[in-house]
Amino acid sequence: MKKDIRRAVIAGNWKMNKTRPEAKALIEELKPLAANAGCEVVICVPFTNLETAVTLTEGTNVKVGAQNCHFAKSGAYTGEISADMLTEMGVEYVVLGHSERRQYFGETDETVNKRTKAALEAGLKPIVCVGELLWERECGITEEVIARQIKLDFFSVSAEDLKKCIIAYEPVWAIGTGKTATADQAEEVCAFIRATLAKLYGEETAEAVTIQYGGSMNAGNAAELLSKTNVDGGLIGGASLKAPDFATIINAATNG
Ligand code: PGA
Repeated sequence: MKKDIRRAVIAGNWKMNKTRPEAKALIEELKPLAANAGCEVVICVPFTNLETAVTLTEGTNVKVGAQNCHFAKSGAYTGEISADMLTEMGVEYVVLGHSERRQYFGETDETVNKRTKAALEAGLKPIVCVGELLWERECGITEEVIARQIKLDFFSVSAEDLKKCIIAYEPVWAIGTGKTATADQAEEVCAFIRATLAKLYGEETAEAVTIQYGGSMNAGNAAELLSKTNVDGGLIGGASLKAPDFATIINAATNG
């Protein structure tokens, strides 16, 4: 992490977990544990928990994010939620292009790009996920895959807007599998992402962008991952559902 020049952000991705009473209990448990965090703390909760999360975190240092938004402003898109609906509620962040959305819901780089631009226009801070499949890594094309995603997902996003985005490097083979990328593997790809951004936007902009690692990050491995220069935080799934584990990761970012 290079906290002197960019924001360290620990974000929990709750995925499709927690009813409202369960969400309330987890947030109440987390609030005191996160009170002295030396990093930005975000919880990305299901749509049904957004209002609860916004209300319960008011006046605290815990920020709230959604897990997706549509690219249209409004209209005939049954089942979808617009970026404006999120900002109006007090939501600050939105996860976009998560591999589960790409894998199970037909999300493409084109729609990730449209959603990213819609989110930025509404004043949200997008957390845009990129990452290679296991066989792409085994075929030696990790960098090609990542460069392509970065170029397409941020197509026509200005440098000023890019600085409001977070990029989460999430190797698909490490998500929910208990298989973490080694700290060196995470650093290698996060550094590559920054180098790609530098080519597209220049050095100064690239240095300012927060790049997270995600994929089985937990209380035991967070400190080592976060000790790497280009790993500016984490997007945490499973371990964000347990307040003490999430707090340990926040502490690792605080001390890192
Ligand atoms: P995980 O999920 O920490 O459970 O591997 C990370 C993510 O999908 O964002």
